[in-house]
Amino acid sequence: MTQIKIFDTTLRDGEQSPGVNLNQLEKLELAKQLERFGIDVMEAGFPASSQGDFDAVKKIAETVKNVSVTGLARAVKSDIDACRDALKNATYPRLHVFIATSPIHMEYKLKKTPEEVIDTAVEMVTYGKQFFDHVEWSAEDASRSDLAFLAKIIEKVIDAGATVINLPDTVGYTMPREYGAMFKYIKENVPNIDKADLSCHCHDDLGMALANSFAAIENGATQVEGTINGIGERAGNASLEEFAVALKIRNDYYPYHTNLVLNEIKRTSDMVGKFTGMTVPGNKAVVGRNAFAHESGIHQDGVLKNAETYEIITPELVGVHSNNLVLGKHSGRHAFTDKIKQLGYELPEAKLKEAFKAFKLLTDRKKEVTDDDLFAILTDIQTDT
Ligand code: KIV
Ligand code: ZN
Repeated sequence: MTQIKIFDTTLRDGEQSPGVNLNQLEKLELAKQLERFGIDVMEAGFPASSQGDFDAVKKIAETVKNVSVTGLARAVKSDIDACRDALKNATYPRLHVFIATSPIHMEYKLKKTPEEVIDTAVEMVTYGKQFFDHVEWSAEDASRSDLAFLAKIIEKVIDAGATVINLPDTVGYTMPREYGAMFKYIKENVPNIDKADLSCHCHDDLGMALANSFAAIENGATQVEGTINGIGERAGNASLEEFAVALKIRNDYYPYHTNLVLNEIKRTSDMVGKFTGMTVPGNKAVVGRNAFAHESGIHQDGVLKNAETYEIITPELVGVHSNNLVLGKHSGRHAFTDKIKQLGYELPEAKLKEAFKAFKLLTDRKKEVTDDDLFAILTDIQTDT
């Protein structure tokens, strides 16, 4: 079965959601949770964009060891240098460099001719290759680019050493059949395409991000990019948890697999929701509060007779626990440890002791300690372990 690699950009494109600004500790906790979720590549940020982002990417690269860590760079040397420095201690570093290829972006934003764009792309991939074995190159606004031009530039950047070619639907404009056809065209018209992996990156402006991601893998993409809860620029990116569960449930239809650990989904989604302040809507697929709730009498009756009548995903599959523990002053250390694990934290003994003490103090003032209270305690205690 073909493996689809999962490239998570919650910490970069996700953080570009209007109003979202994660601090370094939050990014680090999320990075650890994303590693537990089993993603293959983590885009930890955009190191040249600010000192804070640089520091966060550096810290993540030093902490997260089982996942490839990447940083975004525009096609300029100083951005690539910032990635080189931020990622120097990563176990599996990757550079992600992009330049726009659509007529509108080249003319108005870059003010470059198509030939100049090719030259810059080749020059920057060549430059990046001095520092990175793995270079992902993205054709920003690929889906509104001329296909023959796209094929030409891709062939050249692969010759320059790009190992992954990403074709984003940057403004979420494309329909699934069209997006799939672009991948097919590139597969068939770029002679050296087998030297690189093809990747999709979809935005959800027309609600097509997930469908477009499936259209891409049907046509040769072997890497899917997206975010947890689908957060991201404007209407967001493809939701990775939706992609993962759809692939699992419809494995009869799509013979692909990923390394994702599905029962980490709820924990990961909750953590992203809390840290970004972007509450997951109740009706959101897979992780919404109503995703497993059956309201109508007919549905309730059916589910009681046989859950599969109306339930295609079990709550357990995605890590939703029916024994949702409520913590209060009678709760002991065992329940407390279980609960914080449910929230995605694994603390060393000393920190655990400290957190439990803070929790006990709080129970003198509050009857029921909520998840928000626990997140506050854990953030206070945190930890760069
Ligand atoms: O949407 C997009 O085109 C991007 C690129 C920078 C990869 O996020
Ligand atoms: Zn994007």
